[in-house]
Amino acid sequence: MKKRTIVALPGDGIGRVVLEETIRVLDAAGFEADYVEGDIGWEFWKKEGNPLPQRTLDLLAKHKIALFGAITSKPKDEAAEELSTELRDKGLIYSSPIVGLRQHFNLDICIRPCKTYVGNPLNFIRRGADGGIEEPEVDAVIYRQNTEGLYGGVEWSNPDKQVYDAFMTHPKFKKNFGSVPKEEISISTRIFSKGATERILRAAFEHAKEYSYKSVTLCEKPNVVRETSGMMYKMALKMQKEEYPSIELWNTNIDAQMMWLTKNPENYGVIVAGNLFGDIISDGFAGLIGGLGFACSAQMSADGIAVFEPTHGSAPKYADFKTSIVNPIAMVESACMMLDYIDEKAISTKIRRAVADVVAEGKVRTYDMMKMSGRPDVIEKGAASTHQMAEAIIAKINQ
Ligand code: NAI
Ligand code: MG
Repeated sequence: MKKRTIVALPGDGIGRVVLEETIRVLDAAGFEADYVEGDIGWEFWKKEGNPLPQRTLDLLAKHKIALFGAITSKPKDEAAEELSTELRDKGLIYSSPIVGLRQHFNLDICIRPCKTYVGNPLNFIRRGADGGIEEPEVDAVIYRQNTEGLYGGVEWSNPDKQVYDAFMTHPKFKKNFGSVPKEEISISTRIFSKGATERILRAAFEHAKEYSYKSVTLCEKPNVVRETSGMMYKMALKMQKEEYPSIELWNTNIDAQMMWLTKNPENYGVIVAGNLFGDIISDGFAGLIGGLGFACSAQMSADGIAVFEPTHGSAPKYADFKTSIVNPIAMVESACMMLDYIDEKAISTKIRRAVADVVAEGKVRTYDMMKMSGRPDVIEKGAASTHQMAEAIIAKINQ
């Protein structure tokens, strides 16, 4: 096995501890790598006025693959107040380094798998026809377009005249908003491009093909959002027909999908959506398999830059506990996605099996798995610490 160089971006708060424990799990599973640490997050905003320094971008451009913990973001005004004194009044404006990474490297594909671990007490259950309890096995992977759509940042409040006049040329704008004073109007756009739409669709179909899913579900709203969702739907139909005829294309609307996922989540496999709907639906599915302690993700670009991270944030309220109590599984699973991506599938399989064994056995559970509220005394009450959970996974790997 070739020794890899991985950029480790711990970030803030619990991002640091989950990444550290995950690297121990990777070592135990025999993954050989040098980890070079990159600076990102709140500390660097406060000290340098930039939460995503150029040196970090250079590091990722060079080594291409990163494991990322989590960062803290705060509203603009609070961010300005926490800047070190010599940096104040220089007009620096805080913006999220994750969004910055996404934009800088065009990490346009976001993948969020949500797979049930048998024995996880947080698994979704429902009542069956005979009145008994059913625990459907969820195995969904959400492919979310990560750079465009409603999160593309093209927006205005009280738009300048040129923009306003352009909107007034649209009959619907004129009819519905033409009599509203310009100062009272806010506009956020939802722009899809063909190239990016094609890439996310293809990634979803390829995943279905590689892992033998029988269908790809496009989850948008083409009957109402006719231009963007409509374009995506037409492109999906064409791609399925011409390139993936053996995979079924299903089409659901985002609102109905949010209902279906709590009725029959086991029916869905690969799901593909634009940015906002993909974000919503992946959180919905993550809730069915245990929530933030289990939700992993990957973001990648066309030219081979890839960042693997848990979906959760820096959970500042737990960051300073003497013994860390948070669940490292979401980060460990994100690292497994990295291993799949760089073709180290034997190691990812080994780690996933170890995690599955720990969860199924049920002896070692972090506070979230015990449905406790997160306080320092959860350890006394029998919850495992972050470190103990990693140790349990390592023990299974070594068995
Ligand atoms: P959060 O995900 O940090 O925490 C929300 C709650 O989820 C926690 O209080 C905790 O109860 C639970 N939780 C999160 N991770 C967990 C884990 N590994 N194990 C067990 N329980 C866990 O979201 P929140 O509180 O909304 O945001 C905190 C900070 O994180 C903010 O500054 C926010 O901007 C940032 N954030 C960063 C993200 C990232 O780095 N990708 C994503 C989301 C939020
Ligand atoms: Mg989200």
